[in-house]
Amino acid sequence: MEAIQVGLLGLGTVGSGVVTIIKEHQDKLVHLVGCPVEVKKVLVREKEKERQVAVGQDLLTTSPYEVIHDKDIDVIIEVMGGIEQTKEYLLEAVKEKKHVVTANKDLMALYGSELLAAATENGCDLFYEASVAGGIPILRSLVDGLASDRITKMMGIVNGTTNFILTKMSKHGSAYSEVLKEAQELGYAESDPTADVEGLDAARKMAIMARLGFSMNVDLDDVKVKGISAVTDDDISYSKRLGYTMKLIGIAQRENGRIEVSVEPTLLPDYHPLASVSDEYNAVYVYGEAVGETMFYGPGAGSLPTATAVVSDLVGVLKNMRLGVNGRSAVAPQFDKQLKHPEETFAQQFLRIHVKDEVGSFAKITSLFSERSVSFEKILQLPLKEKGLAEIVIVTHRASQKDFAEILEQLNNLEVVEQLKSTYRVEGNGY
Ligand code: NAP
Ligand code: HSE
Repeated sequence: MEAIQVGLLGLGTVGSGVVTIIKEHQDKLVHLVGCPVEVKKVLVREKEKERQVAVGQDLLTTSPYEVIHDKDIDVIIEVMGGIEQTKEYLLEAVKEKKHVVTANKDLMALYGSELLAAATENGCDLFYEASVAGGIPILRSLVDGLASDRITKMMGIVNGTTNFILTKMSKHGSAYSEVLKEAQELGYAESDPTADVEGLDAARKMAIMARLGFSMNVDLDDVKVKGISAVTDDDISYSKRLGYTMKLIGIAQRENGRIEVSVEPTLLPDYHPLASVSDEYNAVYVYGEAVGETMFYGPGAGSLPTATAVVSDLVGVLKNMRLGVNGRSAVAPQFDKQLKHPEETFAQQFLRIHVKDEVGSFAKITSLFSERSVSFEKILQLPLKEKGLAEIVIVTHRASQKDFAEILEQLNNLEVVEQLKSTYRVEGNGY
């Protein structure tokens, strides 16, 4: 049996896991695809660097085209990250009739349509399961497992780094910067962790899921994004006091053919199943018209979990090679994209304000809400150490994004309002 040769672009956290799984699960791979699978060449930046996995020095190269143009290599596994240059490498790879497996959500969120079209044109597979939610097979579930249903909502935790940070801050009172450092050391964070903490990594994943789940060309710019870098200990402790857990939540919803996609720190009731998803774990709820509610849970980052998704994609490519059906799985979007307007998107809101502790303050604030028929579900008022000030925490019933934005603008102009401290979306009341 002649071995199938694979080229790896990258040998970092995920690349090392890929080498490990190919080696340690070789028996199973042979059973599934009918021949051995071998890594023939590996692109790295620095050949002399110490590696997490043993790889022959003769396999390493710093020249991408030595991997991409190798005649014996059938599949390129891209686990190097990066966008523009990496896109050129993958376009060249499919031109060379090599199938591609990638874990790169940055690239797929921005150039997924173009790369998939190029792969199909060249009769190549391009699979990217590991780009969303690490080890959870969520993309395959959307495309295959739930193929017969119409998906109406996807909601979940899709970034391991921020979930790790929020868990440690909330459960152990750890400092934000220390926990971020720990997440980087564990290999969860992106090379530039700003993408994690500012919500961009989760937004990329939500754009990819929304595209597949709603069969529309959803762009990254369509996703409303807010990260966790401004979340304070006070926000966490007040939300706990009111019975909520803070998570960075991605939501993609479809109603009457129009969609909204967002990523933001969100308060969930403590009894909500997503509230108990801790550390680097991810979880995604998918609601379908026929199936109802389904939930997917697992490790969202890390070497072996992510590599599992990558190597499973490789198995998919190799099975297609046996059947001679590569490059036939890409499907054009069924619908034109239609985004919801701010008056069509509704949510409960948490709001924390510092106000002057004087007669009539509260009435002035509440009148702004009642003028727009937005009522309160929970209210907390406490004196502050600063003389003459009080802290008010409000959780509203559902309000439109438009009404809430107008209320915030007017609150900022009220003389009795000292400072608008924070606002967060609240989700999952009764799920
Ligand atoms: P990483 O640890 O930083 O590894 C990147 C690897 O690519 C390194 O081996 C590096 O070489 C090589 N590389 C990067 N740029 C290169 C260039 N221009 N030329 C040659 N080699 C280059 O990254 P990672 O965490 O494994 O992530 C890889 C990809 O998987 C990213 O797209 C990431 O978003 C995605 N992903 C990661 C996770 C996770 O948990 N880490 C989960 C899901 C998806 P050197 O080693 O020589 O520096
Ligand atoms: N940085 C990403 C995360 C890696 O923390 O979820 C997995 O995509």
